[in-house]
Amino acid sequence: MCGVVGYIGNKEAAQILVDGLQRLEYRGYDSAGIAVLDDGKISSGKEMGRLANLERKLEKNPVSGTRGIGHTRWATHGAPSQANSHPHFSSDGAISVVHNGIIENYADLRDELSEQGHTFLSETDTEVVPHLIEQALKDGAASPAEALRCTLQKLRGAYALGVLFQCEPDTIYCARLGSPLIIGLGENENFIASDVPAIINRISEAIYLNDGEMAAIRADGVELCTVDGAAVIPEVKKIEFKAEDAEHAGFETFMLKEIHEQPRILRSMLEKHVSSDGTIDIGTDLSPDYFRKLNRIMIVSCGTAYHAGMYAKLLLENLTGIAVETDLASEFRYRDPKIDPGTLIIPVSQSGETADTLASIRMAKGWGCKIMAVCNVEGSSVVRESDATFFTNCGPEIGVASTKAYTAQQMAFALLSLYIAEVRGNLSRERVQAYLKDLNEVPDALHYVIQKKAEIQVIGEKHHDGPSSLYLGRRYNFPTALEGALKNKEISYQHAEGYAAGEMKHGPIALINEALPVICICTKTADEVYEKMLSNIKEVEARSGRIIAIVSEGDTELSKLTDDVIVVPAVRDEFSPIVNVGALQLLAYYAARARGTDIDKPRNLAKSVTVE
Ligand code: G6P
Repeated sequence: MCGVVGYIGNKEAAQILVDGLQRLEYRGYDSAGIAVLDDGKISSGKEMGRLANLERKLEKNPVSGTRGIGHTRWATHGAPSQANSHPHFSSDGAISVVHNGIIENYADLRDELSEQGHTFLSETDTEVVPHLIEQALKDGAASPAEALRCTLQKLRGAYALGVLFQCEPDTIYCARLGSPLIIGLGENENFIASDVPAIINRISEAIYLNDGEMAAIRADGVELCTVDGAAVIPEVKKIEFKAEDAEHAGFETFMLKEIHEQPRILRSMLEKHVSSDGTIDIGTDLSPDYFRKLNRIMIVSCGTAYHAGMYAKLLLENLTGIAVETDLASEFRYRDPKIDPGTLIIPVSQSGETADTLASIRMAKGWGCKIMAVCNVEGSSVVRESDATFFTNCGPEIGVASTKAYTAQQMAFALLSLYIAEVRGNLSRERVQAYLKDLNEVPDALHYVIQKKAEIQVIGEKHHDGPSSLYLGRRYNFPTALEGALKNKEISYQHAEGYAAGEMKHGPIALINEALPVICICTKTADEVYEKMLSNIKEVEARSGRIIAIVSEGDTELSKLTDDVIVVPAVRDEFSPIVNVGALQLLAYYAARARGTDIDKPRNLAKSVTVE
């Protein structure tokens, strides 16, 4: 969840580190800090709150040096405070450490170290690390590298670490277990980072560190080994996306930019996966025969990706006839699911680093299941631990609230469902082509919705001030209702609840009064649940609820019920959620804007949830 960066070269490190942290701030923003090494001495600066506070501090008290490490924190152990901010130091200040992850056995380690005379200045789990390294050196470790190795062998939990030693000024060290870390390769300079966007403007190649590996990084080279000291030959990967992909590009926020990117991403997914003769290529090694024999799919994911999983279940079951279950990864891993080795597990993840999703993959692998991820980040842990991946390829998503990753996941499942349906013979070639024709309309339909943002803004601003709101949808658009509510609570901090409209009479109807905005997703095509949805809306109307309706073009009946109507193009029922969610993303966006929240970095949230 926290962000880690490091630099070694011949330029001033402080600015490079702060710049990297700025690009990583979506991972954590409770406090930030850097440590820089110059003339055999480490100097540092840390500050509570947003990175801008640290920048102001560094202007007054500059630190100088051509190597260093930096951190942006999402607090786990110990409240956000100056003392708990990273970097943390050894007793003598000669070893400095930044860390993302959780050291689970830190309390025992801290007790042992205290008995050996170490005193701690913070409540963090991280602070044991520099003290352990210091103790290992005192106990006779032959080198900083060996002291770090001994320390890593004592740690339980998850870590991505950056370490700076005063006694070895030409090297920075890093290590990884369970938390992402990459080494960026430059010309006579090298970097470490939690995530590619931190350094995308400076590198075009990177090494993805594996779990259980550490590296010694110098300006002119990188040496990798395992925690046990065995040398590792690094695999250098080309970075596929460009620096502009991680910039605002003239939009006021990353979230707004990412909402606007969606039609283009969906078009390029269609171009990539569907050839001119209408053949779908899902871009994995799994054979058609594998899908023909498959009889069960289990989808696991968290947050927005879970809503994509719910949508996928409806679509896959309907089109392929395969039994599909979907679950929250955090529940799945602690229940006792009855999964046989023939079940295909589909983890869905934007970041590819979500701790619960990864744990679910590992469990399922233990049962002998095949894993096919739907994921956005090449080289991520989910991708590396899966047998195959359907890449959503939507570029870096920086806004904490997921938008483009969601619609890309929906598109991935639309293509996957049609592919499986065809290879299994559930749908004829002609019917698949008819579906594809309709799917091709989706990017333009979503573009049309996004173009209505001024109208949606008026509605968002009108209803932003209530304490709560209710989102209702049915069937394919039940997950849309959940996702709309999630967007709203994430960025506007307004309580919002998504409900299956058919469940209204079983509870939520008691909430309805003239103060409650009820967002009703009621797009009209051939869907048999339209009439039912209409009845639910009438029930809200009868109780004076404030109706905001998402309706299809040409639906005059619904438009009569309320002034607050967002008209969207009619597309095939199965694909309507990909279009409708665009309206809900913008509705949440403008409500949040009216409430004055920090939309890209909402309080308490982090983009990449790498701890449980
Ligand atoms: C966090 C993010 C969400 C995301 C969820 C799952 O909560 O803020 O936007 O949906 O994690 O993340 P993943 O990277 O696995 O899709």
